Amino acid sequence: MPEPLPLTLCPPARIDFGDKGAPEAPEFGDIYFSTDGGLTEAQAVFLAACGLPDRWHGTDYFAIGELGFGTGLNFLAAWQMWDRSKSTGSRLHFISIEKFPLDHKQLRQALSHWPELDQYADQLVKKWPGRVKGFHSLEFGDVTLTLIHEGCAEALPQISGQIDAWFLDGFSPSKNPDMWSPDVMEELARLSSPGCQIGTFTVARAVREALTEAGFEVAKKEGFGRKRDRLEAIYPGQTAIRRNTKIKPVIIGGGIAGACLAYSFAKRGIQPTIIDANDGTAASGNAAALVKPRLDLQDRPESRFFLSSYLFALQRYHALGGIFSESIKHICPTAKEQTRFEKLSRQKPLPKSHFNLLPNNDFEFPQSMVITPKEIVENSCANSKMIAGSGHHVKDGRILDAQGGAISEGSHFFWSCGFGIRDLQQFSGLKLRYSRGQLSYARTETDQAVTYGGYAIPLKNATLLGATHKRLDGQSPFEARIDDDRKNFEKFLANNGGPLEPASRPSRSSVRVTTPSTLPLIFGGDQEWGLTGLGSRGFVFAPLLAEAIVAKICGEVLPISDKAWTRFRARENVPT
Ligand SMILES: Cc1cc2nc3c(=O)[nH]c(=O)nc-3n(C[C@H](O)[C@H](O)[C@H](O)COP(=O)(O)OP(=O)(O)OC[C@H]3O[C@@H](n4cnc5c(N)ncnc54)[C@H](O)[C@@H]3O)c2cc1C
Ligand SMILES: C[S@@+](CC[C@H](N)C(=O)[O-])C[C@H]1O[C@@H](n2cnc3c(N)ncnc32)[C@H](O)[C@@H]1O
Repeated sequence: MPEPLPLTLCPPARIDFGDKGAPEAPEFGDIYFSTDGGLTEAQAVFLAACGLPDRWHGTDYFAIGELGFGTGLNFLAAWQMWDRSKSTGSRLHFISIEKFPLDHKQLRQALSHWPELDQYADQLVKKWPGRVKGFHSLEFGDVTLTLIHEGCAEALPQISGQIDAWFLDGFSPSKNPDMWSPDVMEELARLSSPGCQIGTFTVARAVREALTEAGFEVAKKEGFGRKRDRLEAIYPGQTAIRRNTKIKPVIIGGGIAGACLAYSFAKRGIQPTIIDANDGTAASGNAAALVKPRLDLQDRPESRFFLSSYLFALQRYHALGGIFSESIKHICPTAKEQTRFEKLSRQKPLPKSHFNLLPNNDFEFPQSMVITPKEIVENSCANSKMIAGSGHHVKDGRILDAQGGAISEGSHFFWSCGFGIRDLQQFSGLKLRYSRGQLSYARTETDQAVTYGGYAIPLKNATLLGATHKRLDGQSPFEARIDDDRKNFEKFLANNGGPLEPASRPSRSSVRVTTPSTLPLIFGGDQEWGLTGLGSRGFVFAPLLAEAIVAKICGEVLPISDKAWTRFRARENVPT
């Protein structure tokens, strides 16, 4: 296997805003859109050409794929049309590939041409991930935008799921051949649902031939405005109407993993049932938790996922409420880590607005959060049916307790029971590890959340100090230990200095579940699934992983790359 490349931001978009403000790409000698009728052109050449809005009527889910997100004009035009014509309860998923993403300023400037789209553009700019590489799902109610920041040739094979309409909007084929190659067209065919339609502005012979070769039926149509022709294509077959009404999910374990699964189902209009033991042991039951990214120097599928899941979690928690404070300072506890972080700040897997070196050589994560887990979990479960109980196994479409008593019926079952999984015989083949972690309280002068190998979070009446990492021993993992408090205090003092005085609030101990690879684990399939191994970053990973699992079950396009999905499925970790 070749060495992974360094993980950096995507290359920037070079844009000239010409006399009339039309965004142009000098390197490609082409424009992003025409300021003279660009919106009407998008509606004709892409939306109408793909049979929209008629084709999305009556379906629960419709997926549009686009090559070349650019300024997002086509996306906003689709969103506007969706708002005007959607059926209640249905969802639009717009998946768009872009190798040179605009920055916030360019995006705002380009979209300022379309005041009629302001209400959509404002929301897009607010959630815009900038030039961060990889898959980024942005949630706008019943519309989801999954941006894939990567070149087409590399991105398309990473998409998993079926697309119902394609907008091919690269720069003109003579100037941007990468976006129109026969390999790209083969990938479009692989991903197209039966009856999928394509709209594009070009009628270049090479494009027509590549589409035909890939299995599409291609037709030249009368062009828009000054252009003589445009192209429509269709993938043979009968469009299937997608419906989720048969899904009745039962989630076993109501920590952050279960809560996020519940949220993702509820968002699709599917009411989940959550069964939770309510025994006060949840790792998700701490008074506060950090939402801070894991940063890798190397560009691996999971490294991109770490960034995407972080951005997704921030977005989700902003929407849900439960944020206690924002901005986290990081002090490197060793010279080796300082060197690594300095390298990261030069290499930039995330932009400065998310991660930067401070003048005193500490680091800042300006958008990282301290959240209140209880609020986040409760808000995520707002539309779920809650049952107190302890799930033991699934039989004949029902979840039973250890005595064989039925707790609930369902069509799909999800094990998200944290440390509770250790007691379930049927999962004993999973290679899981358990790490006890204790949080302590002290009085300090810390006025901002800070990490240093451990962490300090100033709460209302005390500073929360965490966290120890200990193997399980013969004693209860939930009983707090004086020795662990001492370790938390010492680590704080070693990295921050004094003063520190123990506070009278009781410490809390719970258990992290991890895997040998330290990656999260999605196990099972068909009717019975599981999400575990969230380690020390459950609040960062769970929202996007849950979204991926639920998308898979509902037959949607996955919001994460196929490579990342495969990493977390890690077959060798699943009992046969
Ligand atoms: C000390 C400590 C500090 C941490 N700090 C952070 C942090 O700052 N940021 C971060 O992102 N992550 C942090 N983590 C990690 C994070 O807390 C976990 O990754 C996450 O909470 C795991 O969520 P979960 O839903 O998988 O499990 P849990 O939160 O443990 O939830 C499992 C739930 O299932 C229930 N249950 C168990 N068995 C059954 C059963 N058979 N039937 C029904 N219900 C059952 C339990 O009662 C529990 O409610 C920390 C962990 C620890 C231990
Ligand atoms: C005509 S513009 C797209 C306009 C866009 N649909 C809009 O609504 O503004 C073409 C886009 O393709 C992108 N692009 C060029 N080469 C690419 C490649 N190999 N892979 C992915 N995107 C590419 C460009 O950066 C540019 O944003």
